Amino acid sequence: MNLLSIIKYPDPILKKVCPPVAKVTKEIQQLLEDMTETMYAAPGVGLAAPQVGELKRVIVLDVSWSKEGGKKELYQLVNPKIIERSGEIEWEEGCLSILDFLQTMKRSQKVKVEALNKQGKLIVVEGEDLLAVCLQHEIDHLDGKLIIDKASRLKRKLYTDKVKKNENTLLRL
Ligand code: NI
Repeated sequence: MNLLSIIKYPDPILKKVCPPVAKVTKEIQQLLEDMTETMYAAPGVGLAAPQVGELKRVIVLDVSWSKEGGKKELYQLVNPKIIERSGEIEWEEGCLSILDFLQTMKRSQKVKVEALNKQGKLIVVEGEDLLAVCLQHEIDHLDGKLIIDKASRLKRKLYTDKVKKNENTLLRL
């Protein structure tokens, strides 16, 4: 197991579109495990490969474990693709790559996602509410789409200025 470092906005890697994974190899399985550990350690409920600098269509998510008494319900998905969606829901979302930032997002309330699992087998995951939101958020990452893209220009600028200021402060230490 390796904890991976999480890339932060506005790193340009986060804006890249990731190509599909050709085959679920041992390296991909290792990436899934490392990403899972990194997600739980963060702590977060989802993580996409570009957030750890890997331009691959790979995501992990577990929306249950952080709730009180919640048991782990982990999804490790390769080449996830939304094949059905319905309803609409608004959710205030955060992102492990965009610290101290929340954005209300309009999402589908229910989604059906086709993906390969860790064994390379084709599976279908159905999610609603938080699981649906999280699937959409992580799949967006694979297309270089971030929650901050939906913010107003002013909100985005204020956030970017704050991040730059923090970076400058760190450099002076
Ligand atoms: Ni995110």
